[in-house]
Amino acid sequence: MSTVDSQQRVLSGMRPTGRLHLGHMHGVLNNWVKLQHEYECFFFVADWHALTTHYGDATIFENNVLDMVIDWLAVGVNPGSASLFVQSRVPEHAELHLLLSMLTPLGWLERVPSYKDQQEKLHEKELDTYGFLGYPLLQAADILIYRAGHVPVGADQVAHVELTRETARRFNHIYGREPGFEAAAEAAIAKMGKKSARLYNSLRTAFQEQGDHEALEKAQALLREQQNISLGDRERLFGFLEGGGKMILAEPQALLTPASKMPGLDGQKMSKSYDNTITLREPLEQIAKKISTMPTDPARVRLTDPGDPNKCPVWQLHEVYSDESTREWVNAGCRSAGIGCLECKKPLSDAIVAELEPIQLRAAQYEKDPDVVRSIIAEGCETARETARETLHDVRSAMGLTSW
Ligand code: TRP
Ligand code: SF4
Repeated sequence: MSTVDSQQRVLSGMRPTGRLHLGHMHGVLNNWVKLQHEYECFFFVADWHALTTHYGDATIFENNVLDMVIDWLAVGVNPGSASLFVQSRVPEHAELHLLLSMLTPLGWLERVPSYKDQQEKLHEKELDTYGFLGYPLLQAADILIYRAGHVPVGADQVAHVELTRETARRFNHIYGREPGFEAAAEAAIAKMGKKSARLYNSLRTAFQEQGDHEALEKAQALLREQQNISLGDRERLFGFLEGGGKMILAEPQALLTPASKMPGLDGQKMSKSYDNTITLREPLEQIAKKISTMPTDPARVRLTDPGDPNKCPVWQLHEVYSDESTREWVNAGCRSAGIGCLECKKPLSDAIVAELEPIQLRAAQYEKDPDVVRSIIAEGCETARETARETLHDVRSAMGLTSW
């Protein structure tokens, strides 16, 4: 397929490591729901990725995989618009990961910022493993196998998409050339004269091996000022700079997910590790209880003490859930001690209940009939595998694995 088509394709994955909460919905999931109308989407449960840090615990997948897909469906991810699948059911990812590992310099993986970070953060776990080091390359294989043009990720994952781009570039550079192309390019380089040729070669190496875009631009400028080479040679050398010849793997773009403004119950970012979440399946009667125990502006000891919404995590939730007039009511009432904190919290728990109620109804339907979910996943896996097989076929033949 052409790279133009692949620009219309979106791929993203999520690890199945626990219940999804409001933070996931207001960040990642609502973004997926929007993207599914604009692009051809593939969304998958990254169960192998979860294994890179949670190996040894065979129970993590028990309910998490199916539950996670149920949550996706319940918030509006539509299997008619997006293919939903489970990574380990598409073993083509593993074969591409293996093949790419042959040409990936170790330094590229050791330099990924999350590598040292996570090793330090999760120090109770032995993470000096081959799988953990290689996990960003597995992610690269996840993306490249669909020739996805766009990858919605959070800021912490942008470095992985960058590694993916470097991997594609390196692969295309090594395997993408047409017969005779390299010799013609070398001959054209020689025509530029020694000094320019040397400069061209070193800028090209800097771009292809380190992804140095400034070097690329300098080399392009150098080509533009050449007087001694024909138009054809100039074109050839532009192509040679960026890998040249055939593009077998497409370089994806990171599509930065708008940061979720969802605060947790304590005012920090909502996250399972802070134990400050409201999950998408939170029993509705629990919600008012959880909101009622939220801390407020500590200055409001008594009802008659005025407060400042800017010092109160409850206010941050109003910023997500409440309309202009409710927010004005809070602001004035808080500062004049005209309303109490419980009163202030009431419209919030009502809004969250109203938001989650229809989602939970849909989730309950799927929970009652998990075979429907299984068949959605099976179908998604089939669609994914068809695309994955095509890419793998091209990769195998580029590497010479089909020529005997
Ligand atoms: N690594 C991602 C995470 O931890 C999940 C993931 C795996 C992913 N493969 C991907 C995301 C491919 C986007 C594209 O959140
Ligand atoms: Fe927070 Fe509302 Fe209480 Fe003010 S009135 S301190 S905004 S909970």
